[in-house]
Amino acid sequence: MNEQQRKEMSHIQQGEPADVKSDQDNLERLKDKSSEDFMKYFETTYQPPSLRKAQRRRKEDVQIHYDFKIPEDMEEAGNGRKYMIRTYGCQMNEHDTEVMAGIFEEMGYESTTDTKEADIILLNTCAIRENAENKVFGEIGHLKPLKLENPDLIIGICGCMSQEESVVNRILKKHPFIDLIFGTHNIHRLPQLVKEAMFGKEMVIDVWSKEGDIIENLPRSRKGKIKGWVNIMYGCDKFCTYCIVPYTRGKERSRLPEDIIQEVRHLAAQGYKEVTLLGQNVNAYGKDLEMNYGLGDLMDELRSIDIPRVRFTTSHPRDFDDRLIDVLAKGGNMLDHIHLPVQSGNSDILKIMGRKYSREEYLELVRKIRTAMPDATLTTDIIVGFPNETEEQFEDTLSLVEEVGFEAAYTFIYSPRDGTPAARMQDNVSMDVKKNRLHRLNEIVNRQAAESMKKYEGEIVEVLVEGESKKNKDVLAGYTKRNKMVNFRGPRSSIGRLVKVRITETKTWSLNGEMVEETAEVK
Ligand code: 5AD
Ligand code: SF4
Repeated sequence: MNEQQRKEMSHIQQGEPADVKSDQDNLERLKDKSSEDFMKYFETTYQPPSLRKAQRRRKEDVQIHYDFKIPEDMEEAGNGRKYMIRTYGCQMNEHDTEVMAGIFEEMGYESTTDTKEADIILLNTCAIRENAENKVFGEIGHLKPLKLENPDLIIGICGCMSQEESVVNRILKKHPFIDLIFGTHNIHRLPQLVKEAMFGKEMVIDVWSKEGDIIENLPRSRKGKIKGWVNIMYGCDKFCTYCIVPYTRGKERSRLPEDIIQEVRHLAAQGYKEVTLLGQNVNAYGKDLEMNYGLGDLMDELRSIDIPRVRFTTSHPRDFDDRLIDVLAKGGNMLDHIHLPVQSGNSDILKIMGRKYSREEYLELVRKIRTAMPDATLTTDIIVGFPNETEEQFEDTLSLVEEVGFEAAYTFIYSPRDGTPAARMQDNVSMDVKKNRLHRLNEIVNRQAAESMKKYEGEIVEVLVEGESKKNKDVLAGYTKRNKMVNFRGPRSSIGRLVKVRITETKTWSLNGEMVEETAEVK
């Protein structure tokens, strides 16, 4: 491939944002290219997003932009058209979907949940474990007939999987009917990308291995009116050896406190009752800002905002500092629930996981939290069957779960992720053993969950009512400050309000009850 051809393909990004004009020129020229030429290009010259490059990153200046705008020629591109986004994975992805929905709506698109009605379908994907990826590939297969029926339909893949070279290559080879692939760093380019996909003949690929800047004024079409998500930082620098996230989401970049506070104030003014601050490792918030300002400081400022509930996810034990514990212990709108992923109860496994704390250090942190917040609910994430995990090491996890008394846990079978250090270790715990360990772990977690519910029998709790229960439309559902789900009968007018509920029955994962007078005293 000569220089000219290379330039022609330069809208396929590998590190630097494209300038829109040259994208359009490229698009024009690409129209005459055959698919064969295109494939040849990918086989010989195209460099996919580089996982290795991601690990070599240093702290570089991140620019903050406040000038996002839909390009004029795309302002009405969605009029009379519908979009559909299917979201996989974590809350960060859910929130990215809200941003993309906001962008679509500013372009005039309406949302739909019916694939047959949609003019554009995006799969916002998750790469955390292999089964998450398999689900997406299954869905891609299901979408193919729709594309055959309606060639104008645009199908796009975005989110974490798009950041993986193996995924991009697989889509190119096996699913060439996909119109658009873009990564996690260039959501703000959605209007340009949609335009390229609309008017170009070839698959549009826009994946940056270098993370982009922070774009502050992206629109958002939020899913609910009661609980809202607020990003406080992007990316992760922890590089736990099993985890793909630092590669797919880039280095840690914190938003400025004033921008976060303004967004929370705005949500409060709109009547939202709860915000969840989002980040892959929220406890590292502020480190890159070099302002000597961390999550504890931010939470302290958010305490004075008139919004009943403020929570955050996800924590890393290593960065969970005393300042944050002090602020959380002040109560008010700070919730009595901390999700504190431990991953393993054995110090040697924690070491090879790259978690940077030992079992003893984790337990010491729990002790500090319990001293400051005696009633707090603690929940966690755990991986079983990490390479070389012995039966004794797994039993350390079981004993830690009991010692801490976690009231819930997300438990996972280790899944090797291409490009991570752990994937180079032999995945030598058999699937049977992994499943058996998961089962034994879940039994303990379930037992503790049920026990933790028992103490609410007959008590009155305060519930933020979110809406109808999924299982029964006559029943309302919501959560307590300690993150317990409560189902109860009550007037629909209580949706979106904090109400008092007397607990009449306890289950493993939820409480049943009846609404009581506002003046009742809450446990
Ligand atoms: N295999 C299994 N579980 C994983 N997690 C992250 N990476 C992997 C992996 N490769 C789990 C961790 C993390 C949660 C979001 O997903 O427990 O906290
Ligand atoms: Fe992954 Fe570890 Fe970062 Fe969490 S802290 S996102 S597990 S690398």
